[in-house]
Amino acid sequence: MTAPLRAGEPIIVNVALGARSYDIVIGRGVLASLGERIKALRPGARVAIVSDETVARHCLSATQAALGGIASAAPVIVASGESSKSFPVFEQVCEALIEARIERGDLVLALGGGVVGDLAGFAAAVVRRGLDYVQVPTTLLAQVDSSVGGKTAIDSRHGKNLVGAFHQPVLVVADTALLDTLPAREFRAGYAEVAKYGLIGDAAFFAWLESSWREIFAGGPAREHAIAVSCRAKAQTVGRDERETGERALLNLGHTFGHAFEAAAGFSDRLLHGEAIALGMVCAFDFSARCKLAPAAEAERVKRHLAAVGLPTHLSQVAGGLPDTDRLMDLISQDKKVKRGRLTFILARGIGGAFIAPDVEAAEVRSFLEEKLTERC
Ligand SMILES: NC(=O)c1ccc[n+]([C@@H]2O[C@H](COP(=O)([O-])OP(=O)(O)OC[C@H]3O[C@@H](n4cnc5c(N)ncnc54)[C@H](O)[C@@H]3O)[C@@H](O)[C@H]2O)c1
Ligand SMILES: [Zn+2]
Repeated sequence: MTAPLRAGEPIIVNVALGARSYDIVIGRGVLASLGERIKALRPGARVAIVSDETVARHCLSATQAALGGIASAAPVIVASGESSKSFPVFEQVCEALIEARIERGDLVLALGGGVVGDLAGFAAAVVRRGLDYVQVPTTLLAQVDSSVGGKTAIDSRHGKNLVGAFHQPVLVVADTALLDTLPAREFRAGYAEVAKYGLIGDAAFFAWLESSWREIFAGGPAREHAIAVSCRAKAQTVGRDERETGERALLNLGHTFGHAFEAAAGFSDRLLHGEAIALGMVCAFDFSARCKLAPAAEAERVKRHLAAVGLPTHLSQVAGGLPDTDRLMDLISQDKKVKRGRLTFILARGIGGAFIAPDVEAAEVRSFLEEKLTERC
């Protein structure tokens, strides 16, 4: 960690899921309270930290110090990056937890971004038929999205996140100071998910982001506020539809187009997830405008803001280029089932007005993408 942590007043967002409810504690310096919070929640529990090499370098010693006198097993450290969401690494993590004699009643602590959260959360879901776990998210994406809501998974050779479980954490401690060491590009990518919450259902939040994004990037109280609003939006959605039988699908705004771009770029550094989602949200709004569902000026506003923070908004900005429309349509239909030539998309009537459109003509999407691929910035 680069800056010393100061203990401030945390913001607490509750995820209301009956007996499985939990708090998300947000603030600069809240990591220091981790041990106290764990002791209050699970007195006498032992803790096993799972992290990745990069995160461990920046955050492990502060996390261990924050655990105070809590007995902890040797940390389980995996390689950084998506490749750790694999069967072999998953096996290593499970075996390490068993070897460390982490029992029911003990805790797994996921210290890292979405990769570590998904991997450690899934290991916690299955080792000894289910261990409780705590999320200490260290990327912006993880603080506003992946650490909340209980989706855990690893990747299969057939695609991302295909093997996993719904398993809610018992506590999320999101220390915004941990983001100070995050590379700027990763921070920007996570910001796409922050903007997403405004675009889905909170026009006032989006307007605030347009004027306050510099302060969020700089790390002041605006950052905490943005994370809290994002977590509240996700918590409310998950509270109403934990298993994505309806409304939770709105959180996929920009993700059908985005996943196709991400897959086309080979899930590589050519296009980070959040960058793909920025492009996907631009497409969702442009497509909505093209279908006369949303005013074109709203779609322009989305593009303007995402471009202002440095996110890609034109398909021509993808390093190495994208494949042709046929290939992109293949990828879209792999991601979403096509039923009689129709696809389900999250579209919008305007900023803050996203809705589930179950009946989008694949042919319309194809001609839209055709145009998009020839558009220049
Ligand atoms: N479970 C969910 O609901 C959900 C939602 C969205 C995304 N995801 C998953 O999340 C993953 C992406 O998450 P991510 O973007 O956090 O990626 P990540 O976990 O790979 O982190 C990105 C990079 O930043 C490094 N890093 C993390 N914290 C750091 C810090 N504080 N300082 C410096 N470097 C740091 C990591 O080592 C890694 O190299 C994907 O696998 C995606 O499928 C899950
Ligand atoms: Zn996403």
